[in-house]
Amino acid sequence: MKDEKIKVGLVFGGMSPEHEISIVSAKSVYENLDKNKYDIFSYYIDKNGFWEEVESPLNYEKRLTEPAPFLAFKNVKPFLEIVDIFFPILHGPYGEDGTIQGIFESLKIPFVGAGVAGSAVSMDKVLTKKILEADGIPVVDYLIIWKSNKMLDEPEKIKESVLEGLKLPVFVKPSNSGSSIGITKVKKIDDIMEAIMKAFKYSDKILIEEGIENAREIEISVFSDKKGIKVSVPGEVIPYNEFYDYDDKYKVGKTKFKIPVELDEKLVERIKKTAYDTFRILSLYGMSRVDFLLDKDGNYYVNEVNSIPGFTSISMYPRLWEESGIKYNELLDLLIQSGLQRYE
Ligand SMILES: Nc1ncnc2c1ncn2[C@@H]1O[C@H](COP(=O)(O)OP(=O)(O)O)[C@@H](O)[C@H]1O
Ligand SMILES: [Mg+2]
Repeated sequence: MKDEKIKVGLVFGGMSPEHEISIVSAKSVYENLDKNKYDIFSYYIDKNGFWEEVESPLNYEKRLTEPAPFLAFKNVKPFLEIVDIFFPILHGPYGEDGTIQGIFESLKIPFVGAGVAGSAVSMDKVLTKKILEADGIPVVDYLIIWKSNKMLDEPEKIKESVLEGLKLPVFVKPSNSGSSIGITKVKKIDDIMEAIMKAFKYSDKILIEEGIENAREIEISVFSDKKGIKVSVPGEVIPYNEFYDYDDKYKVGKTKFKIPVELDEKLVERIKKTAYDTFRILSLYGMSRVDFLLDKDGNYYVNEVNSIPGFTSISMYPRLWEESGIKYNELLDLLIQSGLQRYE
């Protein structure tokens, strides 16, 4: 009998600081993909950029290799002839930022999720804000600092411009990171240089953002295919730590989630509409999670957009769909169908 299964190439690991999280997400996707419908091929990218075909994300091994140029393929059968569609479950730079997507797009290989432009823009928090602002979508006030900025030699000037433009506390962030890596909440202006130097470890461009006091963190999952864009019910993250930092996300396990949120119906509708507009304006496709900050007066801001959101079974992206009536395995089917349609 002819094998009618769709051949899915799961790509995971990757060169970003979110390598380990990608593995956890990929495991969960692997477990939830219906083995009667899909033949799964697993491609592990190590921290140096070597691709390797492995049995599955369940029993991958961390391999230490020599530093390699990006895209070294080792023991990888010519995948062009093998897979029908790639499913990149890579978070952060070299995975969520359009680089991998560019390989697939230029070879016209179907893949799940946003294309080059949407991935590149939403990985870059500065570009995201610039584009959203231009379209009247609310974002919090911010300053940008480049590594080459001469002002860095004069900390007093930096402190002055922060105090002139923003109210403390501020959040200092690398422009292109994720999982809260490199982010510091700064309450005293004298602590700002340390935070800036930390953020520069991850990016040559950083943001200093006005902190929203006691912000509520509202998240919406978005899905699209050629027929259109759908948004989920919103959910709320209630961090245990002072903000939703790396430990809170992955180590402490005390974060609370409210799905769906307790919020005024009209506000929910407005936030959903903004998530829809954000997805469209940023040229996203397939999936994304749009994250909002809500202040005590009911003003909301788009904080950031994740074009490959966390995908563990307790992650917001699948959970919000679950609450909206789409089970994890059905969601994977929809995403794969959406990816297969992308060049139509
Ligand atoms: N302007 C802000 N006001 C209040 N809290 C913020 C602000 N920016 C970030 N945070 C906190 O820091 C966390 C991580 O920031 P975020 O921009 O989402 O970066 P990442 O891409 O690493 O998730 C948020 O979930 C929130 O808890
Ligand atoms: Mg975030």
